Amino acid sequence: MSNSDTFPRMATRSTYLTDELNDYITSRFSSESEDLRTLNEEAIAAGIPAISISPEQTSFLQIMVRSIGARTILEIGSLAGYSAVVMARALPSGGMLYACEYEPVHADFIRRKTQELGLSNVINVLEGPALTTIADLLASSTVKFDLVFIDADKVNYSAYFDLVLPRLRIGGLIIGDNALAWGEVARSATTEFEPHNVKALDAFNTRMSSHPQIQSTLVPLGDGMVVGIKIA
Ligand code: SAH
Ligand code: DHB
Ligand code: MG
Repeated sequence: MSNSDTFPRMATRSTYLTDELNDYITSRFSSESEDLRTLNEEAIAAGIPAISISPEQTSFLQIMVRSIGARTILEIGSLAGYSAVVMARALPSGGMLYACEYEPVHADFIRRKTQELGLSNVINVLEGPALTTIADLLASSTVKFDLVFIDADKVNYSAYFDLVLPRLRIGGLIIGDNALAWGEVARSATTEFEPHNVKALDAFNTRMSSHPQIQSTLVPLGDGMVVGIKIA
């Protein structure tokens, strides 16, 4: 379907995001640099799945980091470090990004790449299951987060939310990737595509949209990001 199929236009209806429009956005608003393309190519060559955020999400995440003056970021699910490098590059000097990743091959890859890209003082890999590594971090320090990016196992998104919310500063952001659940989120009750993951993402969106301490929205870039700001 193209937007012209839906003319006459209705003021209350959003513009349908076609591939053509998505390519337009990507061509103008990606901050994917050459070394990030290389990172993804090397990750694929190392057998790491190609499931990083998409180029059109990079500028959005960097704007989120910069607009709240974030200094401390928690990323849950780091794969090969693509989104971690993106956000780390928007931090001021002295900033820190904790990158939670439980696959040893992925964690090794991230450590090697962050060294190569001169970010080893900024990106701190927490290797292991994130519920455990985050609980350990919170118990052993007084760290507070400015921004938490959730992109790991979908069934645990809500558990990560509960764990980090008390340590997110007021005015801080929680961002969850895959908020559109590969296009299935609006039919979570009936979908046959990874129903447990789709249901978990729907539940997380609903939690974010109804939590009294959070104001949230869903930004339909890539596979969608639910973005919440802590207001109380
Ligand atoms: N944010 C990354 C993509 C993450 S893909 C990017 O955009 O570049 C999801 C990652 O979460 C995978 O690497 C997977 O190994 C990791 N993961 C899944 N479950 C996890 C868990 N319980 N703890 C830590 N990492 C986990
Ligand atoms: C998958 C996970 C992601 O975080 C993503 O953005 C795309 C795909 C997956 O597990 O298949
Ligand atoms: Mg994702």
